[in-house]
Amino acid sequence: IDELLSEGVDGKRVFVRADLNVPLDGTAITDDGRIRAVLPTVKALAEAGARVVVASHLGRPKGAPDPAFSLAPAAARLGELLGSEVRFATDTVGESAQSTVAGLAPGQVAVVENLRFNAGETSKDDAERGAFADRLAALADVYVGDGFGAVHRKHASVYDLPARLPHYAGHLIASEVAVLKKLTEDVRRPYVVALGGAKVSDKLAVIDQLLDKADRLLIGGGMAYTFLKAKGHEVGISLLQEDQIPVVKEYMERAEKKGVELVLPVDVLVAPEFPDLRTKAPANPTTVAADAIPADQEGLDIGPETRKLYASKLADAATVFWNGPMGVFEHPDYAEGTKAVAQALIDSPGFTVVGGGDSAAAVRTLGFDETAFGHISTGGGASLEYLEGKTLPGLAALED
Ligand code: 3PG
Repeated sequence: IDELLSEGVDGKRVFVRADLNVPLDGTAITDDGRIRAVLPTVKALAEAGARVVVASHLGRPKGAPDPAFSLAPAAARLGELLGSEVRFATDTVGESAQSTVAGLAPGQVAVVENLRFNAGETSKDDAERGAFADRLAALADVYVGDGFGAVHRKHASVYDLPARLPHYAGHLIASEVAVLKKLTEDVRRPYVVALGGAKVSDKLAVIDQLLDKADRLLIGGGMAYTFLKAKGHEVGISLLQEDQIPVVKEYMERAEKKGVELVLPVDVLVAPEFPDLRTKAPANPTTVAADAIPADQEGLDIGPETRKLYASKLADAATVFWNGPMGVFEHPDYAEGTKAVAQALIDSPGFTVVGGGDSAAAVRTLGFDETAFGHISTGGGASLEYLEGKTLPGLAALED
């Protein structure tokens, strides 16, 4: 983007592909981290006199307009954060978008409606994606990719559109890549990775890679129960990905052979049912040993001994990557595990990276100071796939 700014953008229509996929409670944004993350790029372009057209996806609508996934709240928040008017187009490439963009004065900013209201955005068919990218291209003179959270998606606005316009990487993408590079090249050791969240299957590929890179892997969250089961423990009615057990077993064996410390919970908080996240009514969990989960109970957070254990395993780390909450942190009775890991990262003298929408949101909604971490990535799947060493379509498209 510095190159673009030095060439000059005055009066040019600059399309900024952002990731404004923020968590919403109705129309209220519960964490605006991703909007704040794109501000440096939007501000720099607006101050340089560009006509800035910001586009993003939000959620996973089915290729047609759906008011539940409107970007209007995100556009309003962007305006508040910029301290200036942000216009909003009620479609993505139709009449509203065209007239909104045509009406922009130099230095003004508009947001167009959710890219995924158009089937072409996510289509697997190159021609269909290309046709939508052509319509997007008609809205702009220049493309700036800054939606790091979406760079792992081969979508029209991420992959096909940059091929149609002069293209540049924004500040966010540049800084995310600079940080994540440090975790893939010449990482400082001990390198400790804490992985949580619900879906083991989403993280298997990165675990596979991390067995060659990390010194220690701490497993928590919903995925821990598949590991405990693979170790031969009963897990009651806890989340379990039965089909992944053989793969997990193989990873456990490989970790042992390679001398990678794979650390599992030693105790967990359990209850007979999932907590009510709306009322946050007391859940009254009990603490049990990880090898003694009762048949009718569900594990919902790591226990107090595990919190201490994980904190000690993080204390001497020179580099930490953390992805995925340790429990159902949205409920106060199950937030302690996630808080303990967040605190351990803050206390760590090493370089700490929080990756993933949920963990980043957890850090902020639990009241931690985000500047106390080395880096909070805006990418969930994107940061994991980067660490896997995959070619990410949205980065490849910007590289030439
Ligand atoms: C994310 O939340 O990780 C990004 O915004 C990508 O969203 P997606 O998983 O729906 O493509």
